[in-house]
Amino acid sequence: MSQSSASPAAHDQIIRPSGAGAMLIDGRAAADRILQRVGTEAAALSAATGFRPGLAVVLVGENPASEVYVKSKGRAASACGFHSLQHTLSGATSEAELLDVVGRLNADASIHGILVQLPLPGPIDALKVIEAVAPDKDVDGFHPVNAGRLVVGDVGRALVPCTPAGALVLLKQTATALGVRLAGCEAVVVGRSNIVGKPMAQLLLAENCTVTIAHSRTRDLPVVVRRADIVVAAVGRPQMVRGDWLKPGAIVIDVGINRIAPSDAGKARLVGDVEFETALARAGAITPVPGGVGPMTIAMLMANTLTAACRAGGRPPPEF
Ligand code: GUN
Repeated sequence: MSQSSASPAAHDQIIRPSGAGAMLIDGRAAADRILQRVGTEAAALSAATGFRPGLAVVLVGENPASEVYVKSKGRAASACGFHSLQHTLSGATSEAELLDVVGRLNADASIHGILVQLPLPGPIDALKVIEAVAPDKDVDGFHPVNAGRLVVGDVGRALVPCTPAGALVLLKQTATALGVRLAGCEAVVVGRSNIVGKPMAQLLLAENCTVTIAHSRTRDLPVVVRRADIVVAAVGRPQMVRGDWLKPGAIVIDVGINRIAPSDAGKARLVGDVEFETALARAGAITPVPGGVGPMTIAMLMANTLTAACRAGGRPPPEF
């Protein structure tokens, strides 16, 4: 791990001695700061242009987890002073009907951001729906045009997927707090989804990290993780990344949110993709679950909506 101060063998450096206990990365506080800023900037945009950022969220079917997420997104949009719209469609909605709703939102000048909550019911082709969203309103950053902009380094025009964008904010703030330069760091992303793993790898590459994407077929994952100064775990498997795999002092960003049943009659609990207790003793810094990356996803969705609205109004968006 390289540190800001001149130091020999920078990339072998340990940012905190093993056993000292990891710094906890507070995602709720960071998300609150971003939401405050989005609210202030949205008010300034309205004062200057006469329009409010508009976010439309589309929910299809009755997935209880999706219902909770969509409600939180609408609440956050209203709290930021946005024009907030929700389309709730039955689980029997056809692909053509959904594409029609998306088409109308694309044409609606009061809407700057469109999010179709995933997963979609089985018969609907999610990729087709993602591709139907106008790239400049694609606040999820899932459209191939936005994925491509990220890959070619056209970040000034891209909308970046919210979870990796939030993870990067936490990583940068942690690196600054610890006096670590990201450039040259070994980063291992565990997970290769289009939503998190692949865009996360691109963002780390843009920070000049040396990036490895590991996944379910990676041979000897503990050895791969062991060389990482930065570990981003996004596999969706509870506590899969063991604490004793980590390089002492590594920065660990845990994107996983897994609900696990209790062994006794107690309540279910949320755990990440990293075995937290053992990682805490070994890492330099780590995001908790809950309270780490989770709150950042919604905050970055609001930031993306503000960005899309600023661009639509011909104004430079703030940086987060
Ligand atoms: N389902 C789970 N996470 C997400 C997300 O970030 N965006 C959308 N559209 N659906 C999701």
